[in-house]
Amino acid sequence: MDDFETRAREAMAAPRNVGEMADADAVGTAGSADCGDMLRMWLKFTEKDGKRVIDRASFQSFGCQTAIAVASMATELLKGKTAEEAQALGPDELTGDLGPLPPMKIHCGQLVESALQSALGTGGEAPGDDGSAAPTLAQSLQKKSGGKIKIVPLEE
Ligand code: FES
Repeated sequence: MDDFETRAREAMAAPRNVGEMADADAVGTAGSADCGDMLRMWLKFTEKDGKRVIDRASFQSFGCQTAIAVASMATELLKGKTAEEAQALGPDELTGDLGPLPPMKIHCGQLVESALQSALGTGGEAPGDDGSAAPTLAQSLQKKSGGKIKIVPLEE
């Protein structure tokens, strides 16, 4: 339809950084009150030039294509940022090359921003070694729905 749709479709065709991160330093989950979609983001930090910066970011989404496209962009551009720099990023910056979101899709970007803020808010606390402190998004959803939801893992 417009440039945004094309760019979002391209980002969706090959989303980057999809999946849980077993050795993450921080994890955050957000749900959208507008549509009920959920997104979880994992962050791994490293030391670079005396600063603690994001080494890798990944996400899992039970959400619309726009949220997945934005999360794919955002997890790429978070690399090398300090927690403070990442915290300062709003939905407009997180969309990267996708450009500004159309009005109907703004909450999709906010969902990604909220998951990031939630991860940064965990203060870099690592989930349990077996992941027990941070259940997967699939587990959270199964719990919520009484286990009747069918989970289809996304291929990287
Ligand atoms: Fe819900 Fe996009 S429609 S996050």
